[in-house]
Amino acid sequence: LPIRAGAYTDELIKTAKTIASPGRGILAIDESNATCGKRLSSIGLDNTEPNRQAYRQLLLTTPGLGEYISGAILFEETLYQSTTDGKKFVDVLHDQKIVPGIKVDKGLVPLPGSNNESWCQGLDGLSSRSAEYYKQVSIPCGPSALAVKEAAWGLARYAAISQDNGLVPIVEPEILLDGDHPIERTLEVAEKVWAEVFYYLAENNVIFEGILLKPSMVTPGAEHKERANPETIAKYTLTMLKRRVPPAVPGIMFLSGGQSEMEATLNLHAMNQSPNPWHVSFSYARALQNTVLKTWQGRPENVEAAQKALLVRAKANSLAQLGKYSA
Ligand code: 13P
Repeated sequence: LPIRAGAYTDELIKTAKTIASPGRGILAIDESNATCGKRLSSIGLDNTEPNRQAYRQLLLTTPGLGEYISGAILFEETLYQSTTDGKKFVDVLHDQKIVPGIKVDKGLVPLPGSNNESWCQGLDGLSSRSAEYYKQVSIPCGPSALAVKEAAWGLARYAAISQDNGLVPIVEPEILLDGDHPIERTLEVAEKVWAEVFYYLAENNVIFEGILLKPSMVTPGAEHKERANPETIAKYTLTMLKRRVPPAVPGIMFLSGGQSEMEATLNLHAMNQSPNPWHVSFSYARALQNTVLKTWQGRPENVEAAQKALLVRAKANSLAQLGKYSA
């Protein structure tokens, strides 16, 4: 059927499909240097370039990773780094049939005139950079209509610019889990945010077949008195997505958003218990890396054990993507 013609249309569709392939998901290691520093300090390491390189090398050279991981989102520094024996990280990924991705935003700043919300810088000059971009929407004090509109419009501009440059945009309006609100309130906010995001994606002529989404799951606020089980989270999240996301979109790659490793796996598994219109998978950072970091402790003799820990989580989430995980 007719689709908007562009220099990269076929390639975008192919890349998005490759990333959204059965039993695979995204390893998000696009922590900015500041965030990576927080992770390293949790195991007593200084935030130096050699330490960041050593940690990313550990992750990316894990043997067999490509069986479970289809894409890796990198921070700009990592994109240009190599292994200690001189192989570009990007080539390490290609050899494992993992699509490299790049974080293109320039961080969060306050959004004036909103309910203390923030937006994400980086549209300026984006044409020469591109892939993951998010705008934060906070539920307890918002979301203000201004923050939702700004997030949706900014994401749509980013998606159009990325596609024009041959890069598959990962569209991520991050609805924060903080707050003591019930799950119904999260559903209401998520529906509002995704309605506007898709409205503006269409207005900007974005090719839906060539994007990936990175939503937060629909859960009660992190400080809410009752926790929801995976079945409930799956029901609310899928209901929201079915109401708002066209089936032309190939993949839904959830962020973990501070859930424990096990919660993130069980929730994904619950969402894959019945057929979905899209590939429903993961783009986890913390829920793939927490045990890896603790196991590594910055010691060369622990690298192998840490890589095994990464494979354990990657395989668990791969099975969860197929709806076949059992604890
Ligand atoms: P978490 O899985 O830790 O929420 O991070 C995902 C993410 O957005 C990184 O790009």
